[in-house]
Amino acid sequence: MEKTVSLQLLNTFGIDCQATNLIEIHSEDQLKEYVLSASRKKSPELILGGGSNVLFTQDFQGTILLNKMRGIEVVSEDHDSFVVKSAAGESWHELVLFCVEHHMGGIENLSLIPGTVGAAPVQNIGAYGVELKDVFESLEAIDLCSGEKIQLHAAQCHFAYRNSIFKNALKGKYMITAVCLRLSKKPVFKTSYGAIEEELNKSGDAISIKSISDAVCRIRRSKLPDPAEIGNAGSFFKNPEIGMEQYQALLAKYTDMVAYPTSLSNQMKVAAGWLIEHCGWKGKRFGQVGVHPKQALVLVNYGGGTGKEVLDLSQRIVDSVMDTFGILLEREVQIL
Ligand code: FAD
Ligand code: EPU
Repeated sequence: MEKTVSLQLLNTFGIDCQATNLIEIHSEDQLKEYVLSASRKKSPELILGGGSNVLFTQDFQGTILLNKMRGIEVVSEDHDSFVVKSAAGESWHELVLFCVEHHMGGIENLSLIPGTVGAAPVQNIGAYGVELKDVFESLEAIDLCSGEKIQLHAAQCHFAYRNSIFKNALKGKYMITAVCLRLSKKPVFKTSYGAIEEELNKSGDAISIKSISDAVCRIRRSKLPDPAEIGNAGSFFKNPEIGMEQYQALLAKYTDMVAYPTSLSNQMKVAAGWLIEHCGWKGKRFGQVGVHPKQALVLVNYGGGTGKEVLDLSQRIVDSVMDTFGILLEREVQIL
């Protein structure tokens, strides 16, 4: 029997499962060579970065392409901005720290999001009023069929809330190898979202790229479980977007329901954490899996839980939110 590879340390849920094979990708040339090699197995492939947005529900019968491409450089600069190019295997938070240190504004609100730079465009990561698309310039990717390199600009990536072309038409077809971001020399600080202003007032720090980054880190550490301590993948579901009529009808019944306007005037985004908490799931534990006591949108593995148990729990939550509010929750995490 072929020797398999454990994925337990390669996914932040800490799910104990196996893959048939794993290859670390350190460079574009190595990736091209692999794609074009005659000996390449015609088995399924899965690109993995930090494994912080995936749930393994079974062993992966195929090859994991683990992104280890490194390097950050400033590729151009003008009066107002820098363009920074990062290899896809860099840690996203390390890239944020590099930009904070060099006074490059734009991604400080995205501090401490786990995972790699290459996965950031896949779901257009976002937090505290900023999304990747706000600073995105372009990306490079390798076609996993032909080995050809492509460059995509923002409009071609079809960025939307926790979505992009890489979750749709190009899913699994390309490996992103580098991402270019345009960062500002004259940043416009975004502090209105959530608790950032409150946190800055508390610390007494003057507003700056660094103080915002520090404030976001403190808020996140206080709210979200650290995967090193409790297995999780951040928000398990997206915040659902619903029509204004449905929103008004629900608000009349549930006056404290939390929701935010969207870019469309006839739509509201409802806080899924509120919906799930209202259905009584917050803090509930079932064996080794459960719903986090501080954030109902985060499902957790206390250790030894299986992906199937997490998925089953998520389905019970989907059903109860549908029964209570008539709202369909969509999973943010990629189910494998
Ligand atoms: P992985 O989990 O390894 O992969 C995710 C998906 O992208 C998979 O489908 C994979 O095949 C694909 N993929 C990965 N790399 C590439 C590549 N180079 N080319 C093509 N496809 C690729 N997300 C947010 O948006 N905002 C948050 O605030 C946030 N907070 C989080 C907090 C915690 C505690 C955790 C655990 C997660 C959080 N997340 C958040 C989710 C997660 O961090 C992001 O989705 C992150 O971008 C995933 O990166 P990764 O490298 O771990 O991706
Ligand atoms: N809420 C509850 N109960 C809960 C959790 C939340 O009632 O258990 C309500 C509260 O009123 C709270 C509101 O929901 O004010 C929003 O909660 P929070 O600020 O924690 O944000 P979120 O909507 O739950 C989203 C993103 C996070 C991102 C934060 C900060 C999604 C799916 N999630 O969470 O992203 O970090 O905002 O911007 O959009 C992720 O994608 O993995 C992720 C963690």
